[in-house]
Amino acid sequence: MALRCLITAGPTREFLDPVRFLSNPSTGKMGFALAEAARDLGMTVDLVAGPVSLPEPRGVMLYPVVTAEQMRLQVDGLFGPCDLFLSVAAVSDWRPKVRHSRKLRREAGAPALELEPCPDILRAMVARRRPGQVVVGFAAETGDLEAGARAKLASKGVDFLAANDVGGAAGAFGSETNRILLLGADGSRHLLGPATKAEVAKALLAAVLPSLVSR
Ligand code: C5P
Repeated sequence: MALRCLITAGPTREFLDPVRFLSNPSTGKMGFALAEAARDLGMTVDLVAGPVSLPEPRGVMLYPVVTAEQMRLQVDGLFGPCDLFLSVAAVSDWRPKVRHSRKLRREAGAPALELEPCPDILRAMVARRRPGQVVVGFAAETGDLEAGARAKLASKGVDFLAANDVGGAAGAFGSETNRILLLGADGSRHLLGPATKAEVAKALLAAVLPSLVSR
């Protein structure tokens, strides 16, 4: 039977009122490239994507969501049968504590913006994983890529941590190219790129595939 791959991609939006939200510049390109690369390897692919303006990849089940909570619910429903979970989405870390049902009036003055944490989808899936499932977390790093990636690999409890360099000229947010440092809990280390996101996606799957088939 085909391996099942579950991928999250893109940003989420966390609304303050019906027309204003917190978000980030993620375009979803890396997650979509991974979905296509996984499909090309013959996997069954579920792609849960925040608001992006990318065409729906052929041969992939696309589940559009908007908020972190909607993404959590969708992922929660799809995680059970997946063999490989790629948590690529740039999920908002915080959301406004209150979502006003009506547009806030400018005349009323600047509102106080109290934030609360969004659900950590990756952490929740790591907590409920069953033996045999391979989980890959992503991290956008601006400082020391290696140190940040090592710390996150340990703290997230994932099998692999893919660290994106979003600070340099190599790419990441919105770019066609990317450079990823992929660290494995097994001690493996791969530098992927700089190359197109399609090439980096292929290389990433080639690096994690052995741990899927050896289970
Ligand atoms: O800790 P940090 O936000 O950098 O972790 C990034 C990783 O965690 C990514 O894999 C991202 O998809 C996931 N994440 C998540 N839910 C959040 C925040 C991050 O699944 N609320």
